[in-house]
Amino acid sequence: MDALTAPSPLIVPPAPKVHARPIGNLRAIWEMSRSLVGSWSEADFDDLLTPYVFLGQPGLVVSDPAGVRHVMGSHAHNYRRPGKSARPIRALVGGGLLLTEGETWRRQRKSLAPAFTPAAIGALLPHFTAAGAALADRLTGCDRANLAEAFHQTALDAVLRALFSRNADADGAEMARLARRYLEGPAHLNLFDFLAKGADDLAMGDTARRRIGGQWFAAVEALIAERHANPRPDCHDLLGRLLAARNEDGAPLGDAEIRDQCGTMLAAGFETTSRLLFWTAYLLTLDTATQDRVRAEIVAFPPERVTSLDDLKAWPLMRSVLMEALRLYPPVPLIAREVVTADEILGCRVEPGHMIMISPWLIHRHRKLWDQPLAFQPERFIDQPHPWGIDAFIPFGAGPRVCIGASFALAEAQIILASLLERFNIALPAGARPVLPKAGISLAADHEPNFDLTPIA
Ligand code: HEM
Repeated sequence: MDALTAPSPLIVPPAPKVHARPIGNLRAIWEMSRSLVGSWSEADFDDLLTPYVFLGQPGLVVSDPAGVRHVMGSHAHNYRRPGKSARPIRALVGGGLLLTEGETWRRQRKSLAPAFTPAAIGALLPHFTAAGAALADRLTGCDRANLAEAFHQTALDAVLRALFSRNADADGAEMARLARRYLEGPAHLNLFDFLAKGADDLAMGDTARRRIGGQWFAAVEALIAERHANPRPDCHDLLGRLLAARNEDGAPLGDAEIRDQCGTMLAAGFETTSRLLFWTAYLLTLDTATQDRVRAEIVAFPPERVTSLDDLKAWPLMRSVLMEALRLYPPVPLIAREVVTADEILGCRVEPGHMIMISPWLIHRHRKLWDQPLAFQPERFIDQPHPWGIDAFIPFGAGPRVCIGASFALAEAQIILASLLERFNIALPAGARPVLPKAGISLAADHEPNFDLTPIA
């Protein structure tokens, strides 16, 4: 057995308490308004299909991989993203890809696809390297740092650079400020979100979202207007690709659509990736032997040498660690669908209006689907060059609406993590309180600890 495949000792990272028995509706609202992963019971980690009724509305929790494939893949046309699940993010993404349906979605997905090919992502690598280097420089001289905050800033920096060739410290600072204000406040689910029947119901619960969303779109529009005024054909960024994108009839995308797609990429891309980076760093403080082995890969091939996606293959253990972080702490812990056409999922009848819950959190920790489901064992992914083929692994969703930014996120996360670990050993102070996940629109941490940073000699 070589150093790469040596198994880590059994490490079980912290997770919220699982209820001994299913909880009632009122308790579920209370738990879910605090954290979307706080309402599961023991039975949910054993059962693969669980019918339920929530506030009078029937639904089905689907954890069986065949059921997930049915809902998100082969029979995706019978389902849609529920309007009300859009409430916390609609103000940032408008009519962008994340929330459109039917023909509009199909057209948008097709016109955006060229911006996410391996070649297009490869052209964005210098932006990720610059964001990683900026992070390492900011931390130089610090012996402690709030890495949750640092990753937030860096992931936003990376996506601003990739989208607009801007950075979050200087000319992108307004976007960074707005994103942070939104995520700290209105992005959280509120009581109106649970009681609303649709996206536009109980609009008083959305006032703060609309206010910050208006400023957000104004900032995005200003960046687009500036590019129109000063075209930069040499710029390898997503905005350049969106401006060059064409619909099937050959027409360019309208300004409002470009604005909404930019807002979507920013909102969908930076927070999820920053959560992935945080949980990965946290796991590496729990398993210092694995942290050392990842660093050995980085020393052998430093991030400054990365010029193509192929170069990222130099870090197989790091990639496995990221996969295991995505398994244990999926940044998107819950995926919801609403039934639009009556259907049958593994023998279970569902009618229009019924809700389907597919939880990467639950599926990734399910006792029937994984060996040692609660343990941090990155080696389980080492021989899996295509982990998306694993049925019970859906951090980026599945089927036609699978995350369009998955390769973007993974390339970015690998380069940023490498830039950090190349320069610092990271640890948490002895006796530090365990960090528990707290899920809203993404899987955040219940508190943001200061990590000890020791420069690598
Ligand atoms: C670790 C990082 C990320 C995770 C875990 C993640 C996860 C997901 C998941 C689970 C979905 C599917 C949701 C559903 O089916 O309801 C999704 C969709 C989407 N993601 Fe990501 N994402 C990440 C990064 C990104 C990035 C970097 C971008 C853009 C640059 C992005 C853009 C999108 C978009 C536009 C969609 C909607 C796709 C469609 O409906 O066709 N994501 N993401």
